[in-house]
Amino acid sequence: MSMQDNDFSRIIAYVKSEKPDDPVHFFHPRHLDHAVKTFQTGFGGMLTYAVKANPDPLVIARMVELGMQGFDVASPAEMALVRSVSDTVALHYNNPVRSLSEIVAAERHGVRSWSVDREDELAKLAHLPKGHEIAVRLRLPVKGAAYDFGAKYGADPETAVLLLQKVRDLGLIPSMTFHPGTQCDASGVWAQYIRACADIAARAGVTLRRLNVGGGFAANRLGISPDLYRIFREIDQAVDQGFGANRPELICEPGRALATEAFSLLVRVKAMDERCMTLNDGIYGGLAEWRDLSVGNRITCFAPDGTLRRADGMERIVFGPTCDSLDCLPTPLVVPCDLSPEDYILISGMGAYSQATATGFNGYGHSHVVCLQDHDTFDRGAGHRHAAA
Ligand SMILES: Cc1ncc(COP(=O)(O)O)c(C=O)c1O
Repeated sequence: MSMQDNDFSRIIAYVKSEKPDDPVHFFHPRHLDHAVKTFQTGFGGMLTYAVKANPDPLVIARMVELGMQGFDVASPAEMALVRSVSDTVALHYNNPVRSLSEIVAAERHGVRSWSVDREDELAKLAHLPKGHEIAVRLRLPVKGAAYDFGAKYGADPETAVLLLQKVRDLGLIPSMTFHPGTQCDASGVWAQYIRACADIAARAGVTLRRLNVGGGFAANRLGISPDLYRIFREIDQAVDQGFGANRPELICEPGRALATEAFSLLVRVKAMDERCMTLNDGIYGGLAEWRDLSVGNRITCFAPDGTLRRADGMERIVFGPTCDSLDCLPTPLVVPCDLSPEDYILISGMGAYSQATATGFNGYGHSHVVCLQDHDTFDRGAGHRHAAA
């Protein structure tokens, strides 16, 4: 968020009037709109949202308004959440391991698209009526993401061939899917996966109905300014080269790339000495991802009266509020040397895997959500209170 941004002056106004002592997630609907529109205009297929990145009902409702075509859901609770907003939008149940009662719940919620990476999980879906789609999830040893999703899910190419044939033999709709790993900005990763999917489908003798190219699209983080249009072109060319006339319909299911810019996180300095400072949030709360993905380049510091802290930077070790010694950021943070106890630090780009993964450990980790609507500042955490900005 730039200093010119109107949202920033409204955040300062909110802080001056409320002096929040708990972390606050500020929702910027316009930034969410921009991310959704980037995919809607640039990606050549169906756009769905991976709910896990940020399941805030404000986010889900806004996405439905913007014409989101479907949601990648990992659990019955996520299905119920989406259904509380829309009865009709598509649900793709792409968590490849499910209990029998979760399958019953998914059918009740109207799921018609599933993914699998092992035979025993496919056997649990054998009763589904024709018209249901099963996407076989592939894993390849490809590097380029912040962390490797293939360590947990995905079939190797031989198993994928077998699974595709079994899906076809069950009379279900065969598709494929993969996830290159989150925060993936490397060139060539999607192309490698897409070519491998084309090869596997050919070896299985199966025509894919759809190809889900996953999430994994990168967000703005230290050292990465992603070029999504480059990735969209790479996907398009690889599908053409790999599948030719048998081109499947495409789906993508980003979480991070859609949600990241939609929220900024306001944290407060509780105490400091010459070397360290303790914040009111940490790795058990909204800063969990900081251990893998630093956001230290996207902070703005100010006093409770709104005065910006602009002095030269100095490094400080950062502790979270809990009593656990693990509750510490992995590297010192450079902050202005006039930053003081009770001051605030606003961190931009905190919409993905922040609220969603926060725990209540030691009684911390709870945050307000304040929505910066066009003409309104809406504090959801304080019981739907409205305040003029
Ligand atoms: C099946 C699936 N799809 C999509 C996503 C979203 O990934 P990202 O937030 O990296 O876009 C995930 C993340 O865990 C996932 O497991």
